[in-house]
Amino acid sequence: MRPKISVLLPTFNEAENIERCISGVIQIFKNIEYEIIVIDDNSPDGTWAIVEKMHESNSRVKIIRRMTEKGLSSAIVSGMSIAEGEYFLVMDADLQHDETVLPQMIQKLEEGCDVAVGTRYANGGSTGSWNLIRKLLSIAANKFTQFILPIRITDPMSGFFALKREIFFRTGDRINPRGFKILLEILGRAGNGIKIGEIPFHFKNRLHGETKINNSIARSFLITVLDLRFGKWISSTFLLYSLVGLSGVIVNLFGFVLFESIGVKDLATGFELLPIFPSSVFFGIELSIISNFILNNYFTFYENRYKRWDAIRGFLIFSGVSALGIFVQLGIFELLFYKALPRMGMEPRFELRLFCDLVAISVAMFTNYFLNSNFTWLNAAKGQQ
Ligand code: GDD
Ligand code: MN
Repeated sequence: MRPKISVLLPTFNEAENIERCISGVIQIFKNIEYEIIVIDDNSPDGTWAIVEKMHESNSRVKIIRRMTEKGLSSAIVSGMSIAEGEYFLVMDADLQHDETVLPQMIQKLEEGCDVAVGTRYANGGSTGSWNLIRKLLSIAANKFTQFILPIRITDPMSGFFALKREIFFRTGDRINPRGFKILLEILGRAGNGIKIGEIPFHFKNRLHGETKINNSIARSFLITVLDLRFGKWISSTFLLYSLVGLSGVIVNLFGFVLFESIGVKDLATGFELLPIFPSSVFFGIELSIISNFILNNYFTFYENRYKRWDAIRGFLIFSGVSALGIFVQLGIFELLFYKALPRMGMEPRFELRLFCDLVAISVAMFTNYFLNSNFTWLNAAKGQQ
């Protein structure tokens, strides 16, 4: 008989947790037609072997052992693609999600909700004893999502949820299975008409194994949100790049003001091309090159990043590319401040220098964008293969 409920358990190195987790679910659903699908990415600790063993005595416990694919969201998509139930239920296999609320989730779906979300942020829910940083990050990610996207639930980041099978098959082909935020993808793409129910639960502490959340996941979360909101118009990598660029402008101006206030003098060079060298503009640029490289390497182009000592090579290439930008910026500044302004009869005041530098920075940024995305970090990815 076709199962009513498909419970999807993504696992990576959960050998110490998986058996108890599955037994807990079986207890809860003993009177319902269910199937449990574990999607394991060939865990080195042999999680898959434990599930294969359980399958021998209970054929409702199934395993997908993925050999080449990796990642939580894509694991859930793999599971849902073969799930036979009317309702899909996703939960962590590390005992942090409370299986006793599963019947309430199913209840919500029976009552007409399309999606039921286990929430840590409504009355009756909690996050357990996370450290302060994790708590703040989680709250910030939540607020940011609610600000950018029209999703009005208290915990759009939750990894504990249930949905009707047609919701998955309606959105599945557009889901970008990156990172951890599968629920967000589904909700973001399902359209406004869907009905969402929330069930508070206490997020338990991990007893065995460790979390797989890391920097690249925080980054892919940001990309997911930006992509859902602006993806139609502009690539999210470009948006991250612009964010870094924007921070670079601030650093650049900060450096400029700093060195102006120290009283660094402009230099006469004797070159026809650049007769006067504005030193404080130059130091502002150098400071921003350093911060831009660090941020782009570990954020914008994380997947293509230069690793360890190779980062020095990357920095040199980035500096080389930026050198062109420096000349563009210096040239534009020179043109505006020393040629255009005097011709317009304006006094060389500080505010005008600031304005000229701002315009010069903007032009240089565009040249740099193009070269870095097409050369510097493509180069990194090739060099490390
Ligand atoms: N197949 C597969 N592949 N499973 C994975 C992978 C992967 O690459 N990475 C993690 N998992 C499994 C883990 O084995 C666990 O069962 C579940 O996914 C959750 O992973 P954790 O690493 O324990 O996540 P967490 O507890 O830090 O994060 C939880 O809270 C987040 C919000 O704060 C999860 O519920 C997330 O889904 C949720 O977004
Ligand atoms: Mn966990």
